[in-house]
Amino acid sequence: MNLRQLFLQHVAQTSMAPLALEIVRAEGCELFDASGKRYIDLIGGISVANTGHRHPKVVEAIRKQLDAYMHVMVYGEFVQSPQVQYAHLLTQHLPSSLNSVYFTNSGAEAIEGAMKLAKRVTGRTEIIAFKDSYHGSTQGALSIIGSEYWRNAFRPLLPGIQHLTYHSFEDLAFITEHTACVIAETVQAEGGVKPPTKEWMQALRKRCTETGTLLVLDEIQAGFGRTGKLWGFEHFEVIPDIMTLGKALGGGMPLGAFISHVGLMNQLADNPVLGHITTFGGHPVCCAAGMAAFQVLLEENLVAGIPAKEALLKRRLEHPDIKAVHKFGLWAAVEFDSFEQCKKVIDRCIEKGLISDWFLFASNCLRISPPLTISEEQLDRACSIIIESIDEM
Ligand SMILES: Cc1ncc(COP(=O)(O)O)c(C=O)c1O
Repeated sequence: MNLRQLFLQHVAQTSMAPLALEIVRAEGCELFDASGKRYIDLIGGISVANTGHRHPKVVEAIRKQLDAYMHVMVYGEFVQSPQVQYAHLLTQHLPSSLNSVYFTNSGAEAIEGAMKLAKRVTGRTEIIAFKDSYHGSTQGALSIIGSEYWRNAFRPLLPGIQHLTYHSFEDLAFITEHTACVIAETVQAEGGVKPPTKEWMQALRKRCTETGTLLVLDEIQAGFGRTGKLWGFEHFEVIPDIMTLGKALGGGMPLGAFISHVGLMNQLADNPVLGHITTFGGHPVCCAAGMAAFQVLLEENLVAGIPAKEALLKRRLEHPDIKAVHKFGLWAAVEFDSFEQCKKVIDRCIEKGLISDWFLFASNCLRISPPLTISEEQLDRACSIIIESIDEM
């Protein structure tokens, strides 16, 4: 059997139609398959490779950490320099109330930790989330994702969850003194790149404060420069009580985090002691890689290049078959009439050397979420391939 057949036979599948490209090398904004074909990566492993694939400084940091130590102890017991340094650097670039970082292995685990922290701190049990929001695939995260289609087969899930309509002012009245936390994506990612208005986000913040409810903002896709600011919530001038990070946080290595105030976070360490624990969360190699990537993001000022690239997308993605382009920073959902049409364009793009994908809750939209390091020439070429692919349908 060849590698593709072994993949289908022995690697548990997530769908009946995986892309199944056999990638042998990744560099910057490009992927190379086993036949030597070169692809522009327009999705960055789904919003992960914000500083590009295998940035030399990230690779160097991983090598250095490998020479020192890998796993030495479960999370939270030893003083591990990569964790401490990265937590320190992140908090230097966050509002002062977000000064304690709990590292996890993934985004979903960051969400699980945030939900537990909110329950522990408020003593309340109800959680509010939003329709068309995605927060992960573990049972707690699954309980709050905003689609019955994905939840239903796995019931019973967590009790006490309500799903409101994102951006509805009226629905904010459902947030009460019984609500432990509201969990919202700062920008709805899998809904097809849908930002809220500043007025709504501020009204949500106000309602949470009035009712003593913690506001959790999921920045797992919106964070790390994607939106044109370091953190998505900066656009709306609100500060969450807890934020979650993942995806690009590890510079290509698995890493998530939930971040809050030390006064809240310490409650997870007491009554019960070890209220939230993990063996591998904040793995030193992942933290070293993530910190190097974060430094690249800052030193290369990647966020400054985003407006020009956003304008390029606006200029180039015009075609009678494109219904709309939903954009926020270097992040877009190109809307077609149907999933079928979108999928045909994606498949044609892949044939022509461009990797894209669709969105979970917006399957008629083509995903644009490339490394922030993508050059304007590469982005321009990517837009040409999309337009040509539509024309060839
Ligand atoms: C907004 C958001 N939250 C949470 C998650 C879950 O992260 P992970 O897949 O690392 O568990 C994702 C993953 O796509 C996401 O997009």
